Amino acid sequence: MSAPSAQTAPTRQLLDQVARFLGSPVPAALERALRTVPRHLFLPDRVWRGDGQGGYRLCDRAADPQGWMDAAYSDVSLITQFTDGLPSSSASMPSMVLRTLQLAGLDADAASGRPRTVAEMGTATGFNAALLCALLGDRAVTTIELDEALAHTGERNLRAAGYSPTVVHGDAAAGRPERAPYDLILATFSVDRIPTAWTRQTAPGGRIITPWNSAWCCYGTLAATTDQDGTTSGRFHSFAAFMPMQRPSTSPDAAAPTGPEHLPHTTTGTLSPWAAAGGDLDAEFHIGLAVPGAFFAWDTSGDHAPVRLEVADTTGPSWAAVDYDGQHGDRFTVTQAGPRHLWDEITAAYDHWTGLGRPRVDQHGLTVSPDGTHALWLDAPNGPANGRFLFPIRIGNRNHLV
Ligand SMILES: C[S@@+](CC[C@H](N)C(=O)[O-])C[C@H]1O[C@@H](n2cnc3c(N)ncnc32)[C@H](O)[C@@H]1O
Repeated sequence: MSAPSAQTAPTRQLLDQVARFLGSPVPAALERALRTVPRHLFLPDRVWRGDGQGGYRLCDRAADPQGWMDAAYSDVSLITQFTDGLPSSSASMPSMVLRTLQLAGLDADAASGRPRTVAEMGTATGFNAALLCALLGDRAVTTIELDEALAHTGERNLRAAGYSPTVVHGDAAAGRPERAPYDLILATFSVDRIPTAWTRQTAPGGRIITPWNSAWCCYGTLAATTDQDGTTSGRFHSFAAFMPMQRPSTSPDAAAPTGPEHLPHTTTGTLSPWAAAGGDLDAEFHIGLAVPGAFFAWDTSGDHAPVRLEVADTTGPSWAAVDYDGQHGDRFTVTQAGPRHLWDEITAAYDHWTGLGRPRVDQHGLTVSPDGTHALWLDAPNGPANGRFLFPIRIGNRNHLV
């Protein structure tokens, strides 16, 4: 069965928006794929788009068919499901999808430059899987979705649009060994570690492309290559904030007990909370890698101080609060409690980052050894002699082994 073609005028609108975002024309192979796969066929009748103020606006096909169709062919991510009030599935922003396809070499016109087999992690609507089928053929594509209902919907959408890749309901962290090895593993959610199954299931010379997150900062995309011995290494790219991978089976590190030596204590600090958490993605990306588990929220209620940055630890009971008194931009009241002195760790990470010359996201890279150890580097992957080896990435309070 041949796929119905995408609506011409709306697709032109989408292609123009994507080209504007990419800053260059959409490569011919990807333009063909986007023209072949009608995005609206993959959307439920109710989707939510950002309202520009941190919230979401419903687009209901029944109430506003034109608005719904306009959303389908706009370069925006569309939320398709909320869980506990938070987005848990979406149709990704088309320009982000295309940039990851570009990173994967799928914009190459010659088949020789392209991967032959791909495992997509996170099927959701099936739209990206359909693009992969249009580019590589159905048999090349395996796509894995954790949520059973979404896996069924994604498969139904794909079949209705004329595509039949292998759709798997399961945890993408385990990959799909039966169909391995893959020339490409492409995640459409963000991770804070590379699952061991992914490096094991990537063919030598194959690539792993995945959006990244830490508790501090959800940003960046890793594009890494796996070599003969299973070592995977590559650089981060400065784009994309994808919803995080859900981990059904892992339990968090046990929280350390809080003793009297862990009671709140107050000092004065000089690091501005805005420097560490005010939107400088290069700094926040580095802090996130260096201070595992730390996350933040701003409190502007005025209850404690004119502005307070609250910091806490996903892996234990530690917390910190950094108060701005409304007058002094060079000193802040810092309260810390728990076994970790989170603000001290963040200050050290920030100082390290400035001492390194404030490296950008895309100067950072990651090497994952066959034993699962993750090591971060700057500029080049070869350790202290050539590049600058930074530190092993820790998850929780242990070295990062998965
Ligand atoms: C941003 S959406 C993916 C968008 C999708 N590729 C598309 O084209 O519409 C992320 C999806 O990843 C799924 N997901 C999250 N964690 C997962 C896991 N551990 N295994 C498989 N799927 C997962 C979510 O349920 C969600 O549907």
